[in-house]
Amino acid sequence: MMVLGSFFEPSPIAFDGQMPESMAVGAAHIDWVYYAIYYFSLFFQAVITGLLFYFVWKYRRRKGDKLETPPDLTRLEILWTVLPLFFIVILFHVGFKGYVKNAIAGDNALEIRVRAKQWLWEFEYPNGMKEIGKLMIPVGRPVKMVMSSEDVIHSFYIPEFRVKKDVVPGMYSNVVFEANVIGPAHVFCTEYCGTSHSGMLADVKVVTPQDFDDYMKEGPKNPNCVDPAAPCPAEMKAKWGEALFVQNACVTCHSRDGSTSPGPTFKGVWGRHEALMSGDAVDVDENYIKESIRKPQAKIVKGYTNVVMPTFTISDRQIEALTEYLKTIK
Ligand code: CUA
Repeated sequence: MMVLGSFFEPSPIAFDGQMPESMAVGAAHIDWVYYAIYYFSLFFQAVITGLLFYFVWKYRRRKGDKLETPPDLTRLEILWTVLPLFFIVILFHVGFKGYVKNAIAGDNALEIRVRAKQWLWEFEYPNGMKEIGKLMIPVGRPVKMVMSSEDVIHSFYIPEFRVKKDVVPGMYSNVVFEANVIGPAHVFCTEYCGTSHSGMLADVKVVTPQDFDDYMKEGPKNPNCVDPAAPCPAEMKAKWGEALFVQNACVTCHSRDGSTSPGPTFKGVWGRHEALMSGDAVDVDENYIKESIRKPQAKIVKGYTNVVMPTFTISDRQIEALTEYLKTIK
């Protein structure tokens, strides 16, 4: 079968039309298998239905026909059983090769966690940075998606990379790909998972390794201020900060209206003189906010020891946006 393996490498013949633009290394193989099956089926469809019509015409009932038991044609029967079996085994072989390529990652693979839930995709990078609905991928590097679901069965599908895999609650599933074209691609959910299934989408951006590293260091850009040349006004930062406040679920422990909550209320938090467990006190400023997000246990406000705040790995830019937002809660 190894001989067949090298024989069935991606074909140099260009097919067009049926597939979206291919943007990953393994895609050529998948396309080859797809078109092989497609033309194989077309050919036999034509041969079988052609013969069917021909025989219907040739052996139609005529006057005076007598019914006879047809003779056994053992050799012919063996032929039409064994020959298709041979073709099916070849197709299985090339299909399985593609499957293995999309299932096993090399040592240098970048590992990205994928969490699916009704109805969004969350991605977590090795440095802990999380993003919802947006996936950044470096070109020319194998990527392994380690996927889990928080509720029902979803299915992770990037047509441009020719990868699709179910995301099942209670277990991890993996999919591996290596993008080879810079540009946008798309994540779809392809398992019906509820009323907003069709809206369970994410944008993929394949970028240069340099851009990817920068992104990992600086984090996502403020969606309200996309022009890097123009200054981003404070109210635009605060707007993003509010979105981050909700996305990161800060809202579940910190009230914004002064009511009692598991964590200190954020009504009027900016500049507040806060008494700490240690007996010291602190004025809430940029540094204190940053420290409290990155190391929540460093300075605990007096009376708030019974709930442990998780550590948040978010970028400086995001912390700045959150700070601007906290300033506006008066
Ligand atoms: Cu998730 Cu369909």
